[in-house]
Amino acid sequence: MPKILDVKKLEAVNKPIEVANGLPNECYISEDYLAYEKERVFFDKWTVIGVGSSIPNPGDTITYNLLGIPLILIRDKDKEIRVFHNVCSHRGFKLIDKPCTLKNFIRCPYHSWSYDFKGNLVSTPHIGGLNNHQSEKFDKNKNNLKEVRSKIWMDIIFININSNEIDFDEYIKPLEERWSNFINKEDQRLIVHSNDYGYFNLDVKCNWKFAIENYCESYHLPTIHPELNKVSNINDHYHIQGLPNRFAGQGSKKYQQLIKGNKKFNTFPNWEKNMLKNSEYVALFPNVMIGLHVDHFYVFWLEPTSINKTKEHMQIYYVGNDSANGEELKELRKENTRFWKDVMLEDISAIEGMQDGRNSPAYNGGNFSPVMDQPTHQFHKWVANNLI
Ligand code: FES
Ligand SMILES: [Fe+2]
Repeated sequence: MPKILDVKKLEAVNKPIEVANGLPNECYISEDYLAYEKERVFFDKWTVIGVGSSIPNPGDTITYNLLGIPLILIRDKDKEIRVFHNVCSHRGFKLIDKPCTLKNFIRCPYHSWSYDFKGNLVSTPHIGGLNNHQSEKFDKNKNNLKEVRSKIWMDIIFININSNEIDFDEYIKPLEERWSNFINKEDQRLIVHSNDYGYFNLDVKCNWKFAIENYCESYHLPTIHPELNKVSNINDHYHIQGLPNRFAGQGSKKYQQLIKGNKKFNTFPNWEKNMLKNSEYVALFPNVMIGLHVDHFYVFWLEPTSINKTKEHMQIYYVGNDSANGEELKELRKENTRFWKDVMLEDISAIEGMQDGRNSPAYNGGNFSPVMDQPTHQFHKWVANNLI
C-alpha cells in the first residue's frame, strides 16, 4: 500500500453508515494512489473495457488503453471476441494503433511477424537469415500473443488482467438472479444495439469514482434532475445493494415507456407483468453502470484516463432489430438517446463539483445520509476493502 494511504482512514469507511467516513481525498487526487488503485481495483477485478457490438465482424479490431496497459480487442473468425496485450512477442513493438478490419493476420509493422486471430504466432519472416523463415532454435508456440482473460455478458466486455478473480458466471450470478423476473437468459439474446443513435461519449474532469457514487443514489434527483424528478421522484425510487458486495444502485417504480402515437419499442417478452414500470440502475463495480427497462437497456462504462479525468461511454440497446434499427422507430430512438444524454450531462456538474471539493484539506471524506446514501456507502466500502 502506498505511504499516502492511511489504513485508519480506510477502516473508517467500513464503520456503520451513521458514523462512517467516505474514502479520503487521496483516493481522488493522488497519482501515487492511482498506481496502487489500478492494481487492486482494476487489474484484480472484472473490469469493463467496451462492448462487443463495436467490433461486429470477424477481423474487426480496436485498441484500448487500460490505465497504461495497451490492449487489442478483436473478433476472431469464429465470431468470438478476444483480448490480447497489444505488444509483439519479438521486440515489443505495439502492434495496432488504430481501429481497423484485418483480413487474416495481426501483422507487426516492425519485422513483419504475424499472428492469427487466436493469437498464434504463424509467421516469422527471415528469422533464420534472408529467405529462411524458420529457426530450429526458436519455438513459435512459446511466442504467441498474450491473451487476457475475458468474458462477454449482455454484450459487455469484461476482462481480468491479473487472472485472479472468481469465475465470471459465479461473479455475475447475484445480479442475474436479481434480474431473473425481468430478463432471463433467453431474453438476454434479444438485445440489439442501435447503429444510428446508440452510442455517445462524454469527457468529464473528475475521478471515475464520482460517476459511480452519483449513479448509486437518487438523493440528487430534485436538485440535479428537476425534469426527471417530476416523473419519478425520490419516493418512487428504491435502493439496490447487491450481496456479496459487487454492485449497488437504485430502481424506479415509475418508469414510463416512450410512446409517440402508436409507436413504441418492443418489450422483453418474459418481463414480470406486474413490474412493467420498474427500471433498475445498477453500478457493477468497478466501472460499469447499467440501466434496465422493459423496452431498452444501456451500458454506461467508464474509462479512467488519469486521476482526475474520465471518458464516459454510453451504448443503448433495444429488444430485437426492428426497435434497434428499424426506420419507423428512428425518431423515438433519437429522442431516447437525447433524454439519456441530457441526464448524463446534468450529472456532470455534480461529479465535477465533487472533484473540485476534494482538493480541500478541510474535508475528511465526509459522511453519508443513513437513509439516502446506503448504496453509495456500499461502493465506498467495496473500494476500501479492496485497497486494504
Ligand atoms: S517487434 Fe514485432 S516483428 Fe519485431
Ligand atoms: Fe443523476
